[in-house]
Amino acid sequence: MTNYAERGRVPPHSIDAGDSPAIAMLKEEHQTFRALFDMVETVDRRMLFPVAGEICIRLAIHMTLEEELFYPSLKPVIGTEEIDEGIVEHHLAKRLMSELMKMTGREELFRAKVHVLGEEVVRHIDEEDCELFRDARRAWEDGKVDLVVLGAQMQVRRRELFDLIDAAARDSRVAEIEPIGEAIEDLPRGAAGAHSSQVEEDA
Ligand SMILES: [Fe+2]
Ligand SMILES: [Fe+2]
Repeated sequence: MTNYAERGRVPPHSIDAGDSPAIAMLKEEHQTFRALFDMVETVDRRMLFPVAGEICIRLAIHMTLEEELFYPSLKPVIGTEEIDEGIVEHHLAKRLMSELMKMTGREELFRAKVHVLGEEVVRHIDEEDCELFRDARRAWEDGKVDLVVLGAQMQVRRRELFDLIDAAARDSRVAEIEPIGEAIEDLPRGAAGAHSSQVEEDA
């Protein structure tokens, strides 16, 4: 049984008054992921499928924001190693997410895959909180990067991505999960695809 949310309430994972808008936004999303992955451990099989879908959509957007905006702004300032490792960790998570989005939720390994995704993602976001955000904050305090302007840009892009997903979901009469997997494969070049929360009942 995991209790990721508990960990998220203490420094450096918690949001503090000195955090820039960009980092506060990403930390807040990290808290959401911890809560969702805690849910994974307790929900029944019927609810696990929509929870996993919610996680994948939110993760796809979060990773897009980091890869399109946050990482490139930090890379020239704090060096390549942390950023490059983050991109590779995103890539590994996207592969697992893509596999999940091609499943129905009834497969024997579905829950185990979501659980392992949680372990990998929480390890990644813990590292970002502890190391990347610490270094980013120092760079911001030294005037080397503007995390206020960046935070505003990320908010705009985040809204765009959620709007695209909402529009795709409205256009879709029959909920399908495959487009999400394809969209995740395409990230970070484009936006995420349609969102589906339809749960397939056992026959
Ligand atoms: Fe990340
Ligand atoms: Fe992150």
